[in-house]
Amino acid sequence: IPVDPFDLVIFGATGDLARRKILPGLFRRYLSGQMPAEAQILGAARSEMDDGAFRTMVREAIAEFDSTEHKPEELDAFLERVGYEAVDAKGTGGWDALRGRLRDDAVRAFYFSVAPSLFGDIAERLRTHGLATEATRIVVEKPFGKDLETAKALNATLAQHFDETQIYRIDHYLGKETVQNLMAVRFGNTLFEPLWNAQYVDHIQITVAETVGVGGRGGYYDTSGAMRDMVQNHLMQLLCLIAMEPPAKFEPDAVRDEKLKVIRALEPVEPYHIVRGQYDRDEEQPGYRAHVENPRSFTESFVAMKLHISNWRWAGTPFYIRTGKMLRARTSEIAVVFKDAPHSIFGAEAGRHRNVLAIRLQPNEGMTLDVTIKEPGPGGMRLLDVPLDMSFADAIGPEGADVPDAYERLIMDVIRGNQTLFMRGDEVEAAWAWTDPIIAGWTGRNDVPKLYDAGSSGPEDALMLMHRDGRRWREIK
Ligand code: BG6
Repeated sequence: IPVDPFDLVIFGATGDLARRKILPGLFRRYLSGQMPAEAQILGAARSEMDDGAFRTMVREAIAEFDSTEHKPEELDAFLERVGYEAVDAKGTGGWDALRGRLRDDAVRAFYFSVAPSLFGDIAERLRTHGLATEATRIVVEKPFGKDLETAKALNATLAQHFDETQIYRIDHYLGKETVQNLMAVRFGNTLFEPLWNAQYVDHIQITVAETVGVGGRGGYYDTSGAMRDMVQNHLMQLLCLIAMEPPAKFEPDAVRDEKLKVIRALEPVEPYHIVRGQYDRDEEQPGYRAHVENPRSFTESFVAMKLHISNWRWAGTPFYIRTGKMLRARTSEIAVVFKDAPHSIFGAEAGRHRNVLAIRLQPNEGMTLDVTIKEPGPGGMRLLDVPLDMSFADAIGPEGADVPDAYERLIMDVIRGNQTLFMRGDEVEAAWAWTDPIIAGWTGRNDVPKLYDAGSSGPEDALMLMHRDGRRWREIK
């Protein structure tokens, strides 16, 4: 279904995120027929450039970062919707010209794909130069602050110029297909929700493992670390969706109220329930410290921790979460591990068996449910766990599934004016309020992360975090 005609201005349009994700994503939405003929996409950045030069840049970005099959005419037609205006984020240059290109009868959205230090300057100029209307939406990227104080300051700055209903804070994990499927599975089936609590769930594991290192982003990453880069936002959002109470409606504030309650119910984490790691050098690669060009860095590229949510539903059920770079495989998965059957009628030799619902975010999105059955054959009553396997690609069929990537979906949600999959200001602040004391503890103790081998599943201590409790992590594969 096409969205309404829109004008989308991308600040920072020559930057990495715009070239890798936003512009190719918009092209795919165009190919899918979701973008109306009257859509207009305007790049805005500091460099002087005309429409033609920007179109060439977009063409190159699409060639590099998009592999969707298309005809050359389709790309040409898409580029006709694309233009560019040079603006000075801290001055007056370009703003009036940009305003002149916007239409009164189209949805108006501004994407801030720039450093957070420019958010205030741009928001202010959108107002003073008359670009922002009551219906204007702004989209802001992470990092949304680096602690509670900076996040509050950013929220306050944006609030001077825009209402909360106009602010779309992106966490691209919320745009992933399976993340939304998680809500469908929980709240669209009668099967799971009655069991979704401390009485039946032994523990929950969330793993977001990456094979990449810090790449060319060492400067940013070394001041951030896995805690700020991944846990405070992406893992926290996954935790909220898995743990929240059923919202009364699938509507922005109903969902976000429930997520906020989860964050506020998180207990402070004991230091011995946290393992920090940093990938070591080996023959193949020079290690984290060389990648960030900081030989004395104590920043973590891996975190594992055990969390508790103090509420009626989850009292006593631990949540183990981990994320890291340079690990064995790229895999993101949430696993709900149910308790043992209360009494085993098959005796000790039948072994220990558990139901596990694993929701795989990427790659190969899908779900498996381990069910215990009898091992086939004449060997007596021996039990075996087999997965009921549902790969979403198989279930929907390759043609049936036009699965947009996270950014594409979220941008279309902005145009539709649907904030459900965006973070509200109070949510971001609550997440920082929980994260800050943990990071302050590390800094105060001069905590040194444990080294781990590239291609492993993280430091040994992370395995111990679960072994101590008689549990184990699922394999990263
Ligand atoms: C980003 C982080 O937000 O998410 C990166 O800054 C990380 O460090 C990335 O690599 C992971 O996203 P995805 O979609 O590849 O899992």
